[in-house]
Order: sequence, then C-alpha cells, then structure tokens
Amino acid sequence: SLIRRSGRTIGVLVPNINNPFFSHFLRGIESVAMDNGYIPLIFGSNNNQKLESYYLFESIRRAADGMIIASAISDVSYIDNILNQNGIPYLLTDQAPVVAGDTIDANNYQGGQLLAAYLIKKGHQRVAVVTDRQPTLNLKQRLAGFLDTFKQHGFPISAAHVIETELTKLGGYHATEQALVDKPTAIFALNDEIAIGLYRGIHEAGLEIPKDVSIVGYDDIDLTEYIVPNLTTVHQPSFEMGTTAAKLILARIQDKDRAIQNVSLPINLVERESVRDLN
Ligand code: RIB
Repeated sequence: SLIRRSGRTIGVLVPNINNPFFSHFLRGIESVAMDNGYIPLIFGSNNNQKLESYYLFESIRRAADGMIIASAISDVSYIDNILNQNGIPYLLTDQAPVVAGDTIDANNYQGGQLLAAYLIKKGHQRVAVVTDRQPTLNLKQRLAGFLDTFKQHGFPISAAHVIETELTKLGGYHATEQALVDKPTAIFALNDEIAIGLYRGIHEAGLEIPKDVSIVGYDDIDLTEYIVPNLTTVHQPSFEMGTTAAKLILARIQDKDRAIQNVSLPINLVERESVRDLN
C-alpha cells in the first residue's frame, strides 16, 4: 500500500468549490474535524476525472485517514477499488455505494415532489427542466420526484423539455434559449446555480421573472436571497450535511467494523418571489 502513517487528516473531494452549497458543506466538515484534532484536505475536482483520480491518489499518499466524497465524476466502483485496496474508509454523499457503505442523503425524491406540487398548485402545467448532463444519483432522484408528480397530476413533461447542461451558473445561462423554446410558464433548475444562470439569460431575452416565466431552484444557497426576485427553492441543510459527514467518517476511522450508516437529512420548501400564481 502507498500509506505512510496517519496524519490525522480527512480527504474531502467536492466537484465545485465555486458553488456556495459546497462551501457550507466544507465549513460543516471543518468544524467537526477541527474539534476532533483532524485537518481536512480539501480538493475541488472541477468536474475533471483526471484531477479527481490524482487527488484520490495524493490523499492516499499523504496518509489521509478517511475520505468524504461528494464528487460526480468517477464511477463509484473506481473509488471503491482505489480506497478499499488501501484500507481507507470513505463516505459518499450524492451517490450510492457499490458495496454497502456509509452515505448521507437529503431526501431528494421528496424535494422534487414538493417543488412540483407547489408549481401545480400555482397553476403551472407547461414546465421545462434544466439539469446536469451527467447527473449523480441524488439529482436523478430529485428529477424523478418532480417528473413523477407532474405525471400523476396529468401533466407529463416530455423528454424534450428536460434540458441537460452543466451544474453551474454558466450552464444555466447557456441552457436558457433551449429552456424557453416552447414557452414554458415555469422552469425547474436542478440547483440554484443553474437558476442564477437562467436569471441572466431570461433578463437578456427581455423577459421578466415571474411575470413572463417562473423559476424554482434547489439548495437554498445564500445568493437566492440577494437576486431579484428572491428565488423559491428547496433548502438543503448543507452545513449539517458536512458536520454529519465528518462525524460519520471519524466514527468509521475509529471503528471500521461498526454498523453501516445511511443517514437521510430533512429538506423543506422555501417560498420566495420567483413563482407567479396563475390561478
Ligand atoms: O448545487 C450542488 C448540488 O450538488 C446540490 O444540489 C447537491 O445536492 C449536490 O448534488
């Protein structure tokens, strides 16, 4: 094995450090790690598979005691091979493990359902969705909850109205034209960053939110309260997801044989001003 000795470090891999969702998540990890005498080694893979495997190997070489992985790129069996071979415990958020392993999730299917039910209640039936081109499991569940609910109410959303882009502001901005093609009354952005990109695109198209088109996002990052109109979204407890992840990995480092933990944290809808009531 490549391991030298314990450095009381936890490797943390996130896909995008620019996204405030992940900075809150990282702060949660930091606070628990520091309290326990551990230092997090933080890596942003920038959605780049090569960089990600480099970081995984470097974490091993630098004797990380455990890893928290919130990454979207590598398939999980790859992560499992590298880390398992080296006896390094890891915890996943956003994806399901290949073999039983610790995970954290935040009710994504339910989050999708909540948003769909809310839009339907406000009279929206023709809706577009903007999602990630290579969605992780949590995003797939989020989308499924949304699509299932519209279908159950008799307003199925066709595949053509599910637009795939990058999970960033720029991704949302670039998706605007396509999202608007069939004149939806509302657009579901799979995360707030995408929603913010759409805000710019919609503004440039000469349209007004929510008068001409309504928007909902997901995550409840702090920016959602600073954009105009304030964004209606689903709150994910990103800081608490971080503290929980750190507690779980520290417990796993101390006892590799303890029972597998699959923790699910609650979410809630935050109603603001970006959805028009069509009733
Ligand atoms: O905004 C980042 C997204 O990536 C969040 O929704 C989170 O769940 C992660 O999947």
